[in-house]
Amino acid sequence: MTNTQSGGARPSELPAWQELAQLAASIADVPSIELTKQRHTNPASTIDVAGLHIDFSKQRINDSIATTLVLLAQQSGLADAIDAQFRGDHINNSENRAVLHSALRAPKNKRPASVADSIENEQQRLLEFAESVRSTQLRGFTGKAFTDVVHIGIGGSHLGPELVYRALGPGDGPSVHFVANVDGAALAELLPKLDPERTLVTIVSKSFTTAETKANADSMRSWFIERTGRPDAIASHFCAVSTNLDAIDEFGLDRNRVFTMWDWVGGRYSVWSSVGLPIALALGREGFLSFLNGAHAMDDHFCHADWSENAPVQMALSSIWNTNFLGATSLAVLPYDRRLALLPDFLQQLDMESNGKRVHRDGSDVTINTATVLWGGEETNGQHAFHQQLHQGTQSFSADFLAVIEPDHPRQEHHNALLANCLAQSQAMLLGRETDEAHRRVPGSRATTTILLAALTPYTMGALLALYEQKVFCQGVIWQINSFDQWGVELGKQLAEPILAALVDDSSKTNTGDAQDPSTQALLAQIEQKRNHHE
Ligand code: F6P
Repeated sequence: MTNTQSGGARPSELPAWQELAQLAASIADVPSIELTKQRHTNPASTIDVAGLHIDFSKQRINDSIATTLVLLAQQSGLADAIDAQFRGDHINNSENRAVLHSALRAPKNKRPASVADSIENEQQRLLEFAESVRSTQLRGFTGKAFTDVVHIGIGGSHLGPELVYRALGPGDGPSVHFVANVDGAALAELLPKLDPERTLVTIVSKSFTTAETKANADSMRSWFIERTGRPDAIASHFCAVSTNLDAIDEFGLDRNRVFTMWDWVGGRYSVWSSVGLPIALALGREGFLSFLNGAHAMDDHFCHADWSENAPVQMALSSIWNTNFLGATSLAVLPYDRRLALLPDFLQQLDMESNGKRVHRDGSDVTINTATVLWGGEETNGQHAFHQQLHQGTQSFSADFLAVIEPDHPRQEHHNALLANCLAQSQAMLLGRETDEAHRRVPGSRATTTILLAALTPYTMGALLALYEQKVFCQGVIWQINSFDQWGVELGKQLAEPILAALVDDSSKTNTGDAQDPSTQALLAQIEQKRNHHE
């Protein structure tokens, strides 16, 4: 029995799913180390691709489980779904859109014909723009070179660019500052340090309707005009990335400095597009293209490698195994490298916004668990904080450890210690500790994957992000959900409007406040009372 994504058996009705449920019961009391020893002969327990070494040997998987998980992928119609993604079918069915971010990182001759030219055009424009800022050929209205860039955007228009910039930047480009949240503290802290004559502002918003981004963009514009007295110079200090060109025109930007994107690129998948401008500013043309090439190498592997040795497929299958069969309620992402500190934040949006869904593609209820909570923390700090819960807590979780073999600094002895800690933590989670003293007992047998990067380069960074993107895609296919919409976030945006009106508008406060639920009404009253008290 197979599922073609167009109806048919639900995930839990597939024969492989049912077999996996039995296999899970059969290993319930088997320590992970026994499973690990069995799998050492199986090549699929490690995969090498695009400068990444991915080690699944600490997962609670033996050979029969590994084989049955691949069967599950087959019965879920994954092969057809991969073809559909790369062909440009409208697999984002609730918005009737294609999902073609992979085309952004493909070489020109491998892009679907329908998008090939427009991608090439925008990519060249972006890279030329970035190079002209980097070379200081492009300057501010008083002829001074740009030393600072303020990147305004949130969610997918922020997390990827900041992650990659912090990991690989600033290179020899200008300093990029990221302003995402609507909390005015970010601008209050940043603006006094900036010289408007040397500042370039990039407003990045696929929709150009996002409230936080609009508020920050408006404040940036006011600051620029207040400081320079030159509203006419906005066009030479502001640029934008968006699909909403009308809104951009209204904001008053020069179209030559506006980069478009397309409705077939989801926000959280957009780092490969012009949204990646900070990356191009930091790394230049060659570095940006290398970032795309690394991601394409992962896509290529994803499309062609046998599923038993296919990194995104195996990442997805082990995650499904942990979530749906072993009861994991969270995935901890634990980078042992300062440069990857923002990876958990990026993956949180990628995974939870894509797969935090409760209906199947046809709108019927999902009856199994979909995305778990993804969280994480950087390096050895977590060992002195939350790792206690991972070692001895009662909740079931899985974890991804990440480390980079080559440091980006000369302190090799520190780096050895960092790597040793990374391996020791995953080893402790595998082996645990048996002792008669109950308080000291560590159960072990926690499911973890370790990803080693030979070096952190634009290429391996691209491969790493594409690995997780395609992993999330495979999970969505197996769960039969649409990973490319995000209707859930709309509700909060809508509700914020009348609440904001109640906070700022005295005349409507009583009426709008009354329209709120009793709890929110009471909180609004508290804010009003405390504000008055301070006045
Ligand atoms: O609110 C969620 C969301 O729509 C994300 O999906 C998106 O990445 C983010 O907001 C920002 O959207 P935009 O780029 O349209 O400003």
